Amino acid sequence: MGQNLTQKILAGHLVSGSLEPGTEIAVRVDQTLTQDATGTMAYLQFEAMHIPRVKTELSVSYIDHNTLQTGFENADDHRFLQTMAARYGIYYSRAGNGICHQVHLERFGVPGKTLLGSDSHTPTAGGLGMLAIGVGGLNVAVAMGGGPFYLIMPKVVHIRLHGRPAPWTTAKDIILEVLRRLSVKGGVGKILEYGGEGIKYLTVPERATITNMGAETGATTSIFPSDEVTLAFLRAQGREDAWVELRPDPDAAYDETLDIDLGALEPLVACPHSPDNVKPVREVGPLAVDQVVIGSCTNSSYLDLMKVAAILKGKVVHPDVSLVIAPGSRQVLAMLAQNGALADLVAAGARILECACGPCIGMGQAPPSGGISVRTINRNFKGRSGTADGQVYLVSPETAAATALTGRLTDPRELGDPPVVALPEKFPVDDRMILPPAADPAAVEIRRGPNIKPLPVAEPVPENIRGRVLLRVGDNITTDHIMPAGAKVLPLRSNIPAMAEYAFAAVDPSFPARAREAGGGIIVGGENYGQGSSREHAALVPMYLGVKAVLAKSFARIHRDNLINFGILPLTFVDPADYDRVGQDDVLEMEHVPETLQRGAELVVKNVTRNATFKVRAQMTPRQVRIVLAGGLLNYTRGNN
Ligand code: F3S
Repeated sequence: MGQNLTQKILAGHLVSGSLEPGTEIAVRVDQTLTQDATGTMAYLQFEAMHIPRVKTELSVSYIDHNTLQTGFENADDHRFLQTMAARYGIYYSRAGNGICHQVHLERFGVPGKTLLGSDSHTPTAGGLGMLAIGVGGLNVAVAMGGGPFYLIMPKVVHIRLHGRPAPWTTAKDIILEVLRRLSVKGGVGKILEYGGEGIKYLTVPERATITNMGAETGATTSIFPSDEVTLAFLRAQGREDAWVELRPDPDAAYDETLDIDLGALEPLVACPHSPDNVKPVREVGPLAVDQVVIGSCTNSSYLDLMKVAAILKGKVVHPDVSLVIAPGSRQVLAMLAQNGALADLVAAGARILECACGPCIGMGQAPPSGGISVRTINRNFKGRSGTADGQVYLVSPETAAATALTGRLTDPRELGDPPVVALPEKFPVDDRMILPPAADPAAVEIRRGPNIKPLPVAEPVPENIRGRVLLRVGDNITTDHIMPAGAKVLPLRSNIPAMAEYAFAAVDPSFPARAREAGGGIIVGGENYGQGSSREHAALVPMYLGVKAVLAKSFARIHRDNLINFGILPLTFVDPADYDRVGQDDVLEMEHVPETLQRGAELVVKNVTRNATFKVRAQMTPRQVRIVLAGGLLNYTRGNN
């Protein structure tokens, strides 16, 4: 039996284990990326390992999240990151150079290589045939130190794209269809590998839209083959030397298969407040719209914005709509400026933002209260836009542009024929905003402003855990709920004591005070606890506040790993009905915790308040048990060095 593409890349990077789904494997990491919101912490952690220089083939530090400078904090962080990169052998992509995933695709991604990134949309590089996985910053720090990445071998799903996309059917509509079918947890424990004759109609940036938003299914990653389309993209970037052909064997086996007929798709929209709440655009209207946002790592490529410019050319946005556009990279912006498309966008009334994440992460451009915002981004969780009662709809750039003109959610097919835009044969390459590491690292002084506070480190797990349920939440709690982003909180990413005041702010603002008063405790959650972004602060801050365990019906993958990495026990109810038998403020007790976990046995939880017992399981590998018992990955790594 032949190998699929995922198996080929993993086999070539295997450090330990076999490719049997459900078993633990360790893989060599070729490249890493960080962005500034997760990067400050990742580099503090790397520094704490006392390794003189990164051991990866390539590591890049991007500044794209906290580019708004309303106080000294973000600027301090950027300076810290720049000096860390120069000292430790890391490339530094300056603020304004673009969104990490877009720039990585353009300038650094290599088919067949492994990439670990401290951002949940790292799988974007799968559009180029990389095996790219989003993880917490601590995992990236360990990889930069030369450690392998451990994961449970996922199942591989073959998503076969048949036929040719119908007019106005875009890459965004394809991934929205995948989300409609799989839901926000249907990809958990899986890698989505794309194939079928339909892939030849998708350019690399379009493939990257699909692999980017595969993260919303909970998948470990998504990947496309590396073919002539990939070669054309790399050649246009002046990087054809990086190309290798990569395809699955003709007789490759897959764990599951999903078939999509591209000709039968139509423009789709993910309605509030979940990326899998997908409907045809024509079924959701008429819906008056206040704001249209075009950009983000999902849809901000040259192709995306050229199509938008073609739709808007010679017209003007509807008087009730504020249209904002953030190009994905400086290269994209430069091309739009050179070919006149930028002038078309400005003439149409678009407000052009910096090449950065911006509104996607709630960094500016919050919609009006109760407002309807139509966006090309990848997430529409409640409150993420910065407006608590804002309603965010996720669409393709074409649908967004049509909507900006009419002022109501509009099926772009109403516009007639779609614009035809081709990728250029050559992109204008200018890497002067990417700073290489210093030639003399010893001469670089690491500059830390007052916003850079020392790393909190957890204690090893004690023999017995007794604690109050500090918070009991429902299903699909996101990392945005646990540790919100936005202009107030994001600048505090390297200042955990200050950041802790915002934990669970939208769910229960009294949580931090209660946690401090109780000296820590336990959190109880429902299904898919911790879905969404990779931010390890959603584990780090609860750890700092003394949270010892999270009991949930199920966990999202990255967050579960982050909890382990920060010494918090992620425990699932053996009988999910027991969730209903635990109340907030109940006192819970677990005895002989280390020994029980080492045996792989279920833990008995005594509900002292209700005089009842129930069971939970840890479902951790022996290595994960050792990490969590040590109080997290940093303690564990230091202990092993
Ligand atoms: Fe940035 Fe939003 Fe992507 S925050 S990395 S543009 S998901």
